[in-house]
Amino acid sequence: RLVLRQTPGRQWRSVCKGLVLGTLLTSCTILLYCLSTPQIPFSHPEVQVPYSCAHRPSQLHPKPLTNSSQQPTGQTCTPKVDIMFMKTHKTASSTLLNILFRFGEKHRLKFAFPNSRNDFFYPSLFQRSQVKDYRPGMCFNIICNHMRFNAPEVTKLLPVDTSYITILRDPAELFESSFHYFGRLVPFTWKIAGDDKLTEFLRKPHYYFDPEGFNAFYLKNLLFFDFGQDNTLEREDPRVEEGIRFVTDRFQLVMLVEYFEESLILLKDALCWEMDDVVFFKLNARKGSTVSKLTPELRARALEWNAVDWRLYQHFNQTFWKKVDAYGRRRMAEDVAELRRRNAEMASICIEGGRAVEAGSIRETAMQPWQPIGEKSIMGYNLKKNVDKAHRKLCRKMLMPELQYLTELGVNLWITKLWGRVRDIINW
Ligand SMILES: *[C@@H]1O[C@H](CO)[C@@H](O)[C@H](O)[C@H]1NC(C)=O
Ligand SMILES: *[C@@H]1O[C@H](CO)[C@@H](O)[C@H](O)[C@H]1NC(C)=O
Repeated sequence: RLVLRQTPGRQWRSVCKGLVLGTLLTSCTILLYCLSTPQIPFSHPEVQVPYSCAHRPSQLHPKPLTNSSQQPTGQTCTPKVDIMFMKTHKTASSTLLNILFRFGEKHRLKFAFPNSRNDFFYPSLFQRSQVKDYRPGMCFNIICNHMRFNAPEVTKLLPVDTSYITILRDPAELFESSFHYFGRLVPFTWKIAGDDKLTEFLRKPHYYFDPEGFNAFYLKNLLFFDFGQDNTLEREDPRVEEGIRFVTDRFQLVMLVEYFEESLILLKDALCWEMDDVVFFKLNARKGSTVSKLTPELRARALEWNAVDWRLYQHFNQTFWKKVDAYGRRRMAEDVAELRRRNAEMASICIEGGRAVEAGSIRETAMQPWQPIGEKSIMGYNLKKNVDKAHRKLCRKMLMPELQYLTELGVNLWITKLWGRVRDIINW
């Protein structure tokens, strides 16, 4: 046990620093939130969004074709372009956003982006009015930034033919990652003593956890919370089952981080995309030394603490493998091998050294990923210097961190950027 390794002076200083910066951060966040939330929730006259927002005329009229024999043979489906991706936290979703951004650009699709920051005022529930340039009846193809899911508002924003997609992660791993990434934003963690706050927290979660505490949701059933559900339910509460059914009914595909490539193949299949559309580099990954491996005991505690998410995950792990069976195990294995081959090929074309490096070794600021509070643990990439002309643009886009890509797609991120400056100044 390393709890008492720190000298009292150092610990005292770090507690003080934590308190001062935490207070500052909290005030800043609240201030920015007040400044940037629309003050009066205006009610929209109901103007129907079209059935589909695809450009193709055939999809604007979704009647069954009477002359179906005249459809070009061999073409069994048309790529789906109306997509709702529910971006959950700490679930490799930055990598998926990169895929969606590229697809959207390629097909000139319209994104429903947030305004002034990179999420829809998370953790408040999603409202249509938060969408940049929103007007009732308007056509949007893709929505994919962080939000707290709110079905009625999402439904009124998007066309009926939208494919709903999301991704889950093993709740123990997710909890560990969330604790690492967001722990410092949750004030009740400041009083946890010792270096290994995660272990200490899991030893006595009920003692430390304050369900009313600021940002507390980051540390309990975060997935369930992201879907707009109550994250403080007991495991056996009937509302857990209802919540799971709610997700089942709305999402056509629930992917799993642990089987990311298989998930992408199912995604490609569900959306009638091509293999090239799902080629990816892993973005926003933590450097190995900061990824703590949970002991079996800690893992069990983390799952018990996040029992609702654990039920959610187990349910969708089952349905996932049913989908893989329906797709064909062998076909899946072949497609995954093909995807890996293409990813490796792109990596050798685009990435200097072929892999991710630590933040300090990234030359271009345009390639610097956003870092968690208080450290530089997220890795990034250096674009190769002499990429041939045919690949240059694609390479750059595949490697571009989320915030830079959002800016390039025309999203004004002043709040996020201001917050980044404040952190630079106080060196946090
Ligand atoms: C089917 O196509 C043929 C030939 O183009 C056309 O004459 C016929 O009216 C079409 N039938 C219907 C029901 O649209
Ligand atoms: C998910 O399902 C697979 C196949 O049934 C199983 O092997 C695996 O252990 C499950 N994972 C979890 C975390 O339950």
